[in-house]
Amino acid sequence: MTFKNIMIKNDLFLRALKGEQVDRPPVWMMRQAGRYLPEFQVIKKKYDFFTRCQTPELASEITVQPIRRYGMDAAILFSDILVIPQAMNIEVQMKPDFGPYLPKPIRSQKDLDHVIIPDVNDSLGYVMEAIKATKEKLNDEVPLIGFAGSPWTILCYCVQGQGSKNFDKAKELCFTNPVLAHSLLQKITDTTIEYLKAKVGAGVNTVQVFDSWGGMLSPVDYQEFSWQYVQQIIDALKDITPVIAFGKGCWFALDEMSKSGASALGVDWTCSPRNARYLSGGRITLQGNFDPTRLFSPPAVIKKMVHQMINEFGKDRLVVNLGHGILPNIPLENAKAFIDAVKEYKAN
Ligand code: CP3
Repeated sequence: MTFKNIMIKNDLFLRALKGEQVDRPPVWMMRQAGRYLPEFQVIKKKYDFFTRCQTPELASEITVQPIRRYGMDAAILFSDILVIPQAMNIEVQMKPDFGPYLPKPIRSQKDLDHVIIPDVNDSLGYVMEAIKATKEKLNDEVPLIGFAGSPWTILCYCVQGQGSKNFDKAKELCFTNPVLAHSLLQKITDTTIEYLKAKVGAGVNTVQVFDSWGGMLSPVDYQEFSWQYVQQIIDALKDITPVIAFGKGCWFALDEMSKSGASALGVDWTCSPRNARYLSGGRITLQGNFDPTRLFSPPAVIKKMVHQMINEFGKDRLVVNLGHGILPNIPLENAKAFIDAVKEYKAN
């Protein structure tokens, strides 16, 4: 596998994705471009959520903020997984202190008839512009990660209409009208593939698929309603860029995921590093898996636990990360302790 445009000064992250030996693993944090940073709050006060996403100058600025402050080994583009349903003609609002709200959820064939497969360069051209602006700001110092939600996770919001503890309405649709669910999933998949290809064309160095709600499904249902679509995305992207598949709560699928052609698999904190290595057969780079709430511990404890985690995974074929996104109320010095712990790591 050879990918174009790899002329990045700090290429630790890309080397770990290839499985090369490293002195220390690379580190970044899911949701690192976000609300725990005071410099993000300044921009958030002035502009609403989708304005921030749609204005390349703002999106690129927010993307590089954590890199400037902490020097992670990779940047992740500031955007959201829900720009995909928006581009597919499904209204998505981001309500302050509530989260995503989709006033016309997809529950019937009639609803689905309004859903389009868009020209991504047209309706999501602003994302490509944000990538170009970010690449200029990063000046090839570190790689840039692009991302999308998994089709299942996107369906969860499209059908439920908002966040949920169990996404019961989304699962109800799958189990009462699987034909409708599968045609929505396929439309999302087709759009996502074109979207991620366009992102690679615009300059991202890696893509991550967030299956944040994959763990809501039983292992059998996961195959049917989630994994087969993630596999289509991996198949379509793997020859042009490394793909990271993150399935929260999906430890049961690590064996199959490790044979998918993905370059790395995300792991959450409910699966031990040792078990994740075992389940993935030692075949693939793993990414994770620090409990995000553990960042409330004092910095010295964080550092010790991060070093233990690296030792348990082994330093190679590892991208250090949290097991899910960073919480908004994490103290700045604790986030710093997490990043610094990895940079200070020495193999023993
Ligand atoms: O990682 C990064 O720093 C890049 C930015 C990013 C955002 N959303 C910005 C955002 C990424 C990678 C996402 C992905 C995303 N969005 C996921 C998958 C990752 C995960 O955490 O599971 C999901 C499920 C969403 C949907 C979404 N967007 C929710 C549930 C919410 C509201 C709840 C919340 O966490 O705030 C959002 C809003 C959102 N997306 C915010 C940010 C910084 C907060 C709102 C704001 O800034 O006004």
